[in-house]
Amino acid sequence: MKRIGILTSGGDAPGMNAAVRAVVRVAIFKGLKVSGIRRGYQGLLEGDIFDMDVSSVGDIIHRGGTILQSARCLEFVEDEGFQKGLDMLKMFNIDGLVVCGGDGSYKGAYRLWQNGFPTIGIPGTIDNDLAYTDYTIGFDTAINTVVNAIGNLRDTSSSHGRANIVEVMGRHCGDIALHAGLAGGAESILIPEIEFDIDEVCRKLIQGRNRGKLHNIILLAEGVGKPYEVSKAIEDKIGMETRVSIIGHLQRGGIPTAFDRIIASRFGNKAVELLIEGKGGRAVGIDGDDIIDVPLEEATKPNDRLNKEMYELAQMLSI
Ligand code: F6P
Repeated sequence: MKRIGILTSGGDAPGMNAAVRAVVRVAIFKGLKVSGIRRGYQGLLEGDIFDMDVSSVGDIIHRGGTILQSARCLEFVEDEGFQKGLDMLKMFNIDGLVVCGGDGSYKGAYRLWQNGFPTIGIPGTIDNDLAYTDYTIGFDTAINTVVNAIGNLRDTSSSHGRANIVEVMGRHCGDIALHAGLAGGAESILIPEIEFDIDEVCRKLIQGRNRGKLHNIILLAEGVGKPYEVSKAIEDKIGMETRVSIIGHLQRGGIPTAFDRIIASRFGNKAVELLIEGKGGRAVGIDGDDIIDVPLEEATKPNDRLNKEMYELAQMLSI
């Protein structure tokens, strides 16, 4: 292993820069050369590849987004595009590749590994939807962004005595809604993993109104969808005025939290170590406080994990 490549792929996540910085600096510290690949697999196919040195990653640990930029590349999923990517890695003398992204990015990395090219995945997505790791890079920053938004909405919700429905990201995973809802004291948390009952949502709103509560925050994961239908159903059933806020891509940016920077740095270090040890086809993650690595194949399995204890606690605290 003389030269490694690094790319960020899929939806960006705050903390990706800290991971890139760690990969580049650990690799250089250990005597490797590093190639940066811009715009994920798309840049790989186009040969958008450049040499990185220690100062290429200076002054980025605190920045959101990714200096390498990112893309979702459909061409790489096709056989011809995939082969082009593999050839490009050879053409640029890259011996191993670190891919920071979510499950789609991992699938590409796994395919490279199946074709004999050493790859390591670093979990970079705000969704926290990779079951093998407790946390993905960007999730902590995203939930803090949502908690701040809930704080603002709670003020206006109280002033008007309305129900504010807040849609958050997460694709098919309810983790952003669940964690931010618990931290933000949301009245109801609606996630795709659990079927919700609109009557139960309404009952809580009435109960709160009867005890003089003024604010009402209903956190809805995008995987549940239909925020405007939920809003209308509440107005029709109990006559409470509602408003909908879709936080959207605001959740994808911002200064990464210390937690995200720390896990990103630890993941980057582990990824380089694995490549040096000759272990490809792995994904790094965190279990408790331990940095772990699992086969990429396992890391791409669908996420059927839900922290039920946390969900039940949030329910209990919002009576
Ligand atoms: O995977 C991260 C994520 O932000 C999801 O939560 C969301 O569904 C999706 O990406 C949005 O993708 P795009 O940035 O392509 O609109």
